[in-house]
Amino acid sequence: MEDLISAAAAQFESLLREQLARQERMEKGAARKDFASAGTITIGLIDGDGIGPIIMREARRVLAKLLEEEIASGWVVLREIEGLTLENREAKGQAVPDEVLTAIRGCDVLLKGPTTTPKGGTLESANVALRRELDLYANVRPVAVPEEGIDWIFFRENTEGEYALGSRGIEIPGKLCMDFKVTTDAGTRRIARTAFEYARANGKTNVAIVTKANIMKKTDGSFSRIAREVAADYPEIEVEDWYVDIMSANLVNPAVRSKFQVFLLPNLYGDIITDEAAQLQGGVGTAGSANIGDSCAMFEAIHGSAPRKIANGEGEYANPASIIKAAELLLRHVCMADKADKLAAAMRVCTETERRVVVTGHRDGATCAAFGDYLLEKL
Ligand code: IPM
Ligand code: MG
Repeated sequence: MEDLISAAAAQFESLLREQLARQERMEKGAARKDFASAGTITIGLIDGDGIGPIIMREARRVLAKLLEEEIASGWVVLREIEGLTLENREAKGQAVPDEVLTAIRGCDVLLKGPTTTPKGGTLESANVALRRELDLYANVRPVAVPEEGIDWIFFRENTEGEYALGSRGIEIPGKLCMDFKVTTDAGTRRIARTAFEYARANGKTNVAIVTKANIMKKTDGSFSRIAREVAADYPEIEVEDWYVDIMSANLVNPAVRSKFQVFLLPNLYGDIITDEAAQLQGGVGTAGSANIGDSCAMFEAIHGSAPRKIANGEGEYANPASIIKAAELLLRHVCMADKADKLAAAMRVCTETERRVVVTGHRDGATCAAFGDYLLEKL
């Protein structure tokens, strides 16, 4: 037992030193890429697993059509990134195999289908690894239900919290397990800054900080305190602190939910609350997700690879709406707001006003490809 305790303590010390080094790197900061004056823009396309290749096929067609001229003139390059599959990741024993990561680093932005993460075992989630390797610290997820007055945008911290060391906890076999949650000052400051800058630039007047600081006193306590320090630079914006449990109730309470505008959350609460929010909008199949860093950004569906859907032969009926919304967020990020607006308008026609081809995610609905044809027709 003494040996196990010493080994665990040594592991903890090395994690602590590593995380402090990361905090120092963050503190130095990095220059943000300016797409408005960029030369060429390389968009990496990653299929992923399960329904990934099926929904990405439609997203690819949409981007090719919207960016036809830019691609022809060489200003935009659509680049296929192969090998981010469960088979290849398991074969190489790497969450993101080296050669795939090198190819990804050669892109400015990425559109990525969902990847499967095996439960247990040692293979880390490809998402978590990519967010860490590319330092994609801001997970931005908009959710809107106009008829309910809901217009929310979530800023989820994307590289820390329970996710930073989620695959590297401590275990005394047969006795106990411990995972670690990490909140750094610099990591909190940059996500808070991103949320408040967005709020100011978009005329939002309320930011809700969501934690469980009554229980997670160190990590969430620090998240809330630093977020409030940043908020002091935005006196025109009202700031509220909420605990995640009551916030999950608020989101399903029609009497209060429409007053919320911008949410700022640590990683795991952001993961959970954004699925809940997406469900209110019509399901996780309907929400897009942006993972933004200073030098790269990755856009993806908020849902997973849906292995059950593949197993029961319903893969072709998957809803591409989420990945297409992610493509819209990507276009906005690279300063092509006109293209993003055009895509959003066509999506509104297809999913709200006209709805001639309706995807349900099951055999009783249209196929993913049929919806793609419909959308292309409206572009
Ligand atoms: C998400 C997903 C991921 C997460 C998984 C796939 C690792 O649920 O993007 O919300 O937990 O962040
Ligand atoms: Mg999630």
